Amino acid sequence: MSPEQYLDIALDIAQSAGRMILEARESNALEKSLKNGQELVTTTDVAVDTMISQRLEEAFPGEKRLSEELSPERDVLEQEGALWVVDPIDGTVNFAHGLRHVAVSIAYARDGVIQLGVVHAPFLEETFTAIRGKGAYLNGNALSASSARELDASLIATGFPYRRDSRIPLMRRLTAVLSHCRDVRRNGSAALDLCDVACGRMDAYYESVSPWDFAAGRLIAHEAGARTGHLYHCPEGIPEELYGENLLVSSPHIYDDLRELLRRADAGELDDDR
Ligand code: IPD
Ligand code: CA
Ligand code: CA
Repeated sequence: MSPEQYLDIALDIAQSAGRMILEARESNALEKSLKNGQELVTTTDVAVDTMISQRLEEAFPGEKRLSEELSPERDVLEQEGALWVVDPIDGTVNFAHGLRHVAVSIAYARDGVIQLGVVHAPFLEETFTAIRGKGAYLNGNALSASSARELDASLIATGFPYRRDSRIPLMRRLTAVLSHCRDVRRNGSAALDLCDVACGRMDAYYESVSPWDFAAGRLIAHEAGARTGHLYHCPEGIPEELYGENLLVSSPHIYDDLRELLRRADAGELDDDR
């Protein structure tokens, strides 16, 4: 099967998932609960993940899956072969609060290398796709990332973990970015933040997230010409393209400056710089 045929199937599944998300909001039948203490989840997250898993199993029997609600065990990241990486709803807090920044994210990797990605935002009617080496698209139109050269005029996307005690150390980064860049956006969906970098709406994105949050969006941003990487070296064992700690994705021209700024912020070197 060609990569285009794989993408068509992933796209069709993402669009079915999008319809489920729209219907769930229309029917107002949202049941919320907390997982791991502070993390919001709805019955729709689980229902959409179940549908996507069933459809992937029908189309690609036996291929491994890493998905946020049904199969989050990360040992598959260290195994060779095919892997589907799925976030049924990226932007659950937005979804639960009636906001529109919500996406389905499906990526396909082989031996740790992402081959294709779909990020479908049903409320925004935006569908982002990419096949490795073949560019990135929004509703079928080719994308290119921002060519921003100055941090000073750059708009930066980021996010924060659910665990509130993990948010405190990130304040240094936030202060640094607010002091040196145009502004920050926290839109609540890592997948869409990455797609916004792919479109050139955002000049950069940094955050630590899980593989399902970023696998598809990272490829889409990369294929649109953004530079993708990490603030620090990645550990051995987990493929770099699926390693979500300290991600940095940006216009190629500001990448080094932003990396330096964020690293200096982490090291406390900018604390007197306000
Ligand atoms: C979250 C979103 C958010 C990011 C969080 C993620 P979820 O995913 O991507 O933007 O800041 O770290 O957990 O829980 O809505 O699938
Ligand atoms: Ca997510
Ligand atoms: Ca999710």
